[in-house]
Amino acid sequence: MDASCIPGDIASASELVTLAETLDADFTVVGPEAPLANGLVNEFMARELPIVGPTQFAAQLEGSKLFAKEFMREHGIPTADFVLIESLGDIDQHISRFDFPVALKADGLAAGKGVVLAKSEGEAREVAQAMLAGQLVGEAGRRIVLEEFLEGEEVSFIVLSDGTDYFVYPPTQDHKPVFDNDEGPNTGGMGAYCDPAILSDDLRSTVIDTVVEPTLGGLRKAGHPFQGFLYCGLMMTPDGPRVLEYNVRMGDPETQPLMFRLQGNFAELMFSAAQGQLEPDAVSWSPGPTACVVLCSEGYPGSYPKGRPIEGIAEAERDGAKVFHAGTRLHEGRLVTSGGRVLGVTTGGDDLRQALDSAYKAASKIHFEGMHYRKDIGRKGIELHS
Ligand code: AMP
Ligand code: GLY
Repeated sequence: MDASCIPGDIASASELVTLAETLDADFTVVGPEAPLANGLVNEFMARELPIVGPTQFAAQLEGSKLFAKEFMREHGIPTADFVLIESLGDIDQHISRFDFPVALKADGLAAGKGVVLAKSEGEAREVAQAMLAGQLVGEAGRRIVLEEFLEGEEVSFIVLSDGTDYFVYPPTQDHKPVFDNDEGPNTGGMGAYCDPAILSDDLRSTVIDTVVEPTLGGLRKAGHPFQGFLYCGLMMTPDGPRVLEYNVRMGDPETQPLMFRLQGNFAELMFSAAQGQLEPDAVSWSPGPTACVVLCSEGYPGSYPKGRPIEGIAEAERDGAKVFHAGTRLHEGRLVTSGGRVLGVTTGGDDLRQALDSAYKAASKIHFEGMHYRKDIGRKGIELHS
């Protein structure tokens, strides 16, 4: 057993503060975005309980697309051109400025499902109408950011900051659409890989200089230093890196291949960030690429059944894979599904092809009714980098 789960309400700051006190926790790490956006970190800080994660102000980078876009505009951080849409009239007024497709993004948190790419004005209007009416992603869609479509390879670039200094993770790539060849609706992420070849040293420096530094610096100047994980979702366009989105936590599933490579004392690294005294030497990275394939429930990213028994995890892990749990629970002593993204099958290899082959081999040992997963995670990476 790697961890024990305690039932509770993650929306309740007071419950979580009490839990940290009862457990006498050395420190707390916030995984999901909603408690960060709700100000959980402020509550912990007010009680001097060590915690890794940004304050409510800084968490708006993820909690509001509009906040993020305006912040980027103010600080000259490269991102797609955009307008705010609050009514269909706003579409009429601004749409001629954009070529198609365009990206429509619900302003609020939407679990990775708040972005729709529209191929025509008609489709943009339809999507906007449904979002504004609260039909697509509820309240999150009452305001929309409409933005220019960008082309290129996506890169997830994550740093851990103690408010001043920061530690840079190796680059990873997520796969958001549910089906092979990037078809179908977006999900929270169907698989990811980590390979140093994703970014050249030059591009890595460009990302640090044009995105990471001005983002952390901009928040510091605003009096809200960013402490925690800053995830920059980038599009590597022919004109250079552009920020698609920020997350204020480690990404899922990017974290799985990152953790598979990480060596040393991760807890010490995080604790040092919580104390404002970052100790980057606490960890290092194993050399080879790593990959994660996400196994999903029938129907995901739409509605899906829960409670389906899961078999084969021990077999999958026999040759060295690590199966990370995402949407599982124990029911009468048996492991069953309890979410859309159920498991992240993660492995490493001497090269990306080997890492992916062993991830798929391990995934093939696992079964639950209706299980589906993408068969082409990392395929573009192999073409591009080997
Ligand atoms: P986001 O939540 O903003 O990262 O958007 C989810 C996904 O939609 C991204 O990972 C991209 O695949 C896609 N996407 C978002 N914005 C754009 C854009 N401006 N141009 C092209 N694709 C985009
Ligand atoms: N994989 C991106 C996210 O965690 O939202």
